[in-house]
Amino acid sequence: MVVAVYPGSFDPATYGHLDIIRRASISFDKVVVGVLHNSAKTPLFSVEERVNILEKAVIDIPNVVVKPFEGLSVNFARENHAQVIVRGLRAVTDFEYELQMAQTNRVLAPDVDTVFLTTSLEYAYLSSTIMKEVALFGGDLSRFAPEEITDALKQKIRKR
Ligand code: PNS
Repeated sequence: MVVAVYPGSFDPATYGHLDIIRRASISFDKVVVGVLHNSAKTPLFSVEERVNILEKAVIDIPNVVVKPFEGLSVNFARENHAQVIVRGLRAVTDFEYELQMAQTNRVLAPDVDTVFLTTSLEYAYLSSTIMKEVALFGGDLSRFAPEEITDALKQKIRKR
């Protein structure tokens, strides 16, 4: 049984993230999505909110679970008996950071491999940051994430 973890900030998840999760769920027996609780950063959504949002979005995929985590991704991988860390690659601009992260993780945990999935072309431009910026200025979010997520984002921005 090959278990993969997919760590990230997911603040909040976009169609790009959901595409990676769905495709990883086909290649691996189990996918554990890890939502990073980073006390050094102030995300828009709390870790509990980000986990809830993702849980609802992947409810129809039986071999995917969503969990919060703190600390190193490789430790999260080990705790979940995962052999693989999955990351999405959108463009060459992602590559340097992703390669550095993958190599660091390999030094820390040679038994855990990083597997990159190339983001589907229609989401190659998309990021949570871009989606939040469009939301802030009242733009149309329908191409960026499912309605439950964009509604939660609009509500969060209204409350601020
Ligand atoms: O969605 P993001 O913000 O691009 O995800 C980045 C993430 C969470 C995968 C990365 O910051 C991470 O792995 N953080 C945990 C700390 C860690 O393991 N650092 C060592 C690798 S550089």
